[in-house]
Amino acid sequence: MNRLKAFLSVFNLLCLLAIGLCSTHQVLALDNGTAKSPPMGWNSWNKFACNVSEQLIREAADSMVTSGMKDAGYQYIVIDDCWQIGRDGQGNIIPDPRRFPSGIKVLADYVHSKGLKFGLYSDAGTKTCQNRPGSRGYEFQDARQYAAWGVDYLKYDWCSHGTQNSEASYSIMRDALALAERPITFSICEWGSTKPWLWARDIGNLRRTTGDIQDCWDCKKDWGGMGFVHILDLQENLEPYAGPGHWNDPDMLEVGNGGMSTVEYRAHFSLWCILAAPLMAGNDIRSMSPDIAAILMNKELIAVDQDSLGMQGRRVKRTGDLDIWAKQLADGSRAVALLNRGAAESEMSISWTDLGFPDHLSASVRDLWTKKELGKLNGKFTSRVPSHGVVMIKVTP
Ligand code: GLA
Repeated sequence: MNRLKAFLSVFNLLCLLAIGLCSTHQVLALDNGTAKSPPMGWNSWNKFACNVSEQLIREAADSMVTSGMKDAGYQYIVIDDCWQIGRDGQGNIIPDPRRFPSGIKVLADYVHSKGLKFGLYSDAGTKTCQNRPGSRGYEFQDARQYAAWGVDYLKYDWCSHGTQNSEASYSIMRDALALAERPITFSICEWGSTKPWLWARDIGNLRRTTGDIQDCWDCKKDWGGMGFVHILDLQENLEPYAGPGHWNDPDMLEVGNGGMSTVEYRAHFSLWCILAAPLMAGNDIRSMSPDIAAILMNKELIAVDQDSLGMQGRRVKRTGDLDIWAKQLADGSRAVALLNRGAAESEMSISWTDLGFPDHLSASVRDLWTKKELGKLNGKFTSRVPSHGVVMIKVTP
């Protein structure tokens, strides 16, 4: 009898386990066929704010091709806030006719004619952050309009949301875009305020994780804007939530906007690649210095960002100002960024065991900025790293 009891309780336990395993709720990524790797492109906001126009967008598209950015993988040309001025009697959104005299369709066609994709901005609340009409209550009408214009990417902000629920608000636009029957990459921009990494996996292709990036190393604004290192710190522990089709977005690039040094911009770009962040250039790509162009178009760094495994990198260790991040790549190698946040040059070291490799492993090391093979190393890599700079390597077993 006791044996029977024991058998039954083990049997019951196994049944419970089986039910538990089968009912584990697995939310799939948003299935709109886009953003299998982190989106790459250019957005008008960081450099031009409300100073957008048809002319600027045409020239940005031209420059994306002539600069080599398109060949390096950049694809989207996105107009941020201020392209819209009102709604007509039927509720249709009206683009500013003074700034966009040919209308949005003609402009989207032009961008497409360059082999690029076209994006727009709106807001889940009643007004955008610059007081233009938001999409609240007009989601389905707006989505249909975007699809008719040939929009491929929508950045969707969170100003004037009142008491709206974020998950519900973003779900409405997700559904509206799906009904519009054009694959539109959906970029959620609610600044990480309601932890979108917990609910947005099947709602958007990318979701901002923080307030607005500022073109500085470590400044902080009262209204929530912040410099590079503050944004970086807020990405720690978000890596389990990102993957193909649904990326964490630490905001657009400031590379080339003048507030940081070339060394600092290299660090900013390197860490964004380690984070598998969307790479949306935010500078004036019509007039880039060779140094800035070389950062934005470092193909070995871009390959790290775009790696098919789709893993967001993580902080491996931080000792004071010495901060090390690594990303596992599809071929089994690791990309590693040694970031020196301090005011003086420092020696930094990463051991193979910190990367999940055995200590005795002999691994090839390649410097991704100098583009040089550093040979086969055992156990660890050590290098001097400039103040506010990175050394970025690939370690291949
Ligand atoms: C918010 C967003 C920014 C930008 C502006 C436009 O602040 O976070 O990225 O889109 O609005 O007004």
